[in-house]
Amino acid sequence: MAKISPLLFARFLLFAPGGLAGLIVDVANADNVKQTAQSVAQDLMSYYTGAIPGILPEDNYYWYTGGMLWNHMLDYRARTGNTSWDETIRTGLQFQTGSNDDYLPANWSLTIGNDDQAGWALAALTAAQTDLESPPADGTQWVDLAKSVFDEQSSDGRRAQTGDCEGALRWQIFSSSNGYNYISSAANGAYFNLGARLASFESNKTRADLAKDTYELMTGMGIIDDDFNVYDGISLPDCDAINKRQWTYNAGLFIEGAAYMYNFTNDDTWKTRLDGLVSRSMEVFFPDGVAEERACEPVGTCEFGTRGFADYRAYLHRGLASAMKLAPYTADTILPTLQSSAKAAVAQCTAGDNGRMCGASWTNGTNDGETNALSEMSVLAALNSIITTEAEINSTDSGGNGTSTGGTDDASSSDNPESAGIRAGISVAAVMGALVVGLMALS
Ligand SMILES: *[C@@H]1O[C@H](CO)[C@@H](O)[C@H](O)[C@H]1NC(C)=O
Ligand SMILES: *[C@@H]1O[C@H](CO)[C@@H](O)[C@H](O)[C@H]1NC(C)=O
Ligand SMILES: *[C@@H]1O[C@H](CO)[C@@H](O)[C@H](O)[C@H]1NC(C)=O
Ligand SMILES: *[C@@H]1O[C@H](CO)[C@@H](O)[C@H](O)[C@H]1NC(C)=O
Ligand SMILES: *[C@@H]1O[C@H](CO)[C@@H](O)[C@H](O)[C@H]1NC(C)=O
Ligand SMILES: *[C@@H]1O[C@H](CO)[C@@H](O)[C@H](O)[C@H]1NC(C)=O
Ligand SMILES: *[C@@H]1O[C@H](CO)[C@@H](O)[C@H](O)[C@H]1NC(C)=O
Repeated sequence: MAKISPLLFARFLLFAPGGLAGLIVDVANADNVKQTAQSVAQDLMSYYTGAIPGILPEDNYYWYTGGMLWNHMLDYRARTGNTSWDETIRTGLQFQTGSNDDYLPANWSLTIGNDDQAGWALAALTAAQTDLESPPADGTQWVDLAKSVFDEQSSDGRRAQTGDCEGALRWQIFSSSNGYNYISSAANGAYFNLGARLASFESNKTRADLAKDTYELMTGMGIIDDDFNVYDGISLPDCDAINKRQWTYNAGLFIEGAAYMYNFTNDDTWKTRLDGLVSRSMEVFFPDGVAEERACEPVGTCEFGTRGFADYRAYLHRGLASAMKLAPYTADTILPTLQSSAKAAVAQCTAGDNGRMCGASWTNGTNDGETNALSEMSVLAALNSIITTEAEINSTDSGGNGTSTGGTDDASSSDNPESAGIRAGISVAAVMGALVVGLMALS
């Protein structure tokens, strides 16, 4: 049963005459977190017009942000059980697949980078993993969309063919694009993440090996260093000068991928990598227990505006949440930080006509005026990340092709490894619940 926290109530009384209270969340109360997430999801979707299905209004947002939108809405759906956006999500994910079912639709294909294309594939894979109703049987299944993108990006044509960076995925797809001669950790991290999750979803060792190769290319080139810093990338053809900026998105992708690799292989090498990435990223990006885009926020150069490109803390929260699930021993270090970060994220959601729209920065305690879909999305992802249970969603899936896990109430319907994962996730939730209670007792 949902409860209004005493704090929220007090705040409501205080501000009731003005009518607007802003958002506040009691991070230790699962019902309250879900309720707050519902408000934020609704506010996020208020930016989506559907004029072109799948993408946020093109005047203000890049094509790739559509994939991010669905990924986080799917997480919201899986954790709260609220299926009211299903039709919108499904339509959006299908509309942008393009004629080759590989997320290179003709309208945008010339400007799509490997990271952008993979971003949509990651969302399609989340749809498969969380049991969003499949496309019609004769349509391309969610998991197959993800696989076609991964397999395209595995090809030599997308990669550096010679020199010290040989074998690494280029940032851009087309030689006419700026950034074709750059090896970015965002593109390679998205590929790695996709491969690790696909390997685990379908128990495909070949994809696990490909993911591993990419991780080792990154460490070989020094894009991931011995201290587990994840740097931005390196330029071709010399491949000798690393761009050392660090972004939350890139780290988040590698954390989640490493968690899947650890869970899939049960190999100590992956445990070491996962632990290193988690602990270094928590040092770098959560200086005061609140996620911060360190490369630009402290100096005010983030361009968090409507075409903001740097508000990727959503994926850092998401990656760490997956780590807690797939490597449960990490939860007691990760969860308290995600909670303090989510609390700060929500506290600045005080803007707009409804008095609860979110800005970009979480560290100052006040709304910075950067109200846009990306800001809203990051706060939603922060809340998703601290809801440690998967909701029970009744799926209308007909089964087959790795898209059906039979929900949580039909344990015998599928031998798909992911369904075991999801069901196991439920019991992990019980442990998490105990942890939350423990934290409450401390505070
Ligand atoms: C699900 O989300 C919709 C849209 O925000 C909302 O109207 C509805 O009340 C939510 N349902 C629950 C059970 O929270
Ligand atoms: C391509 O652009 C046209 C014109 O704006 C639009 O009607 C159509 O929906 C777009 N298709 C996709 C896949 O974005
Ligand atoms: C599964 O995939 C096969 C081959 O791609 C296809 O023939 C079949 O219809 C699919 N099944 C479902 C339930 O989508
Ligand atoms: C496993 O992955 C590889 C590489 O992506 C692919 O070629 C192969 O068809 C997959 N195997 C199965 C059984 O799906
Ligand atoms: C930070 O917060 C203070 C008030 O607490 C405010 O005056 C200031 O403008 C804020 N700075 C930014 C960058 O939002
Ligand atoms: C799932 O379906 C069953 C049977 O139709 C129903 O009793 C149950 O309430 C549903 N659960 C959810 C979470 O919708
Ligand atoms: C793998 O993940 C599941 C949850 O999806 C978890 O129950 C299990 O303990 C994990 N395995 C390891 C080796 O941590």
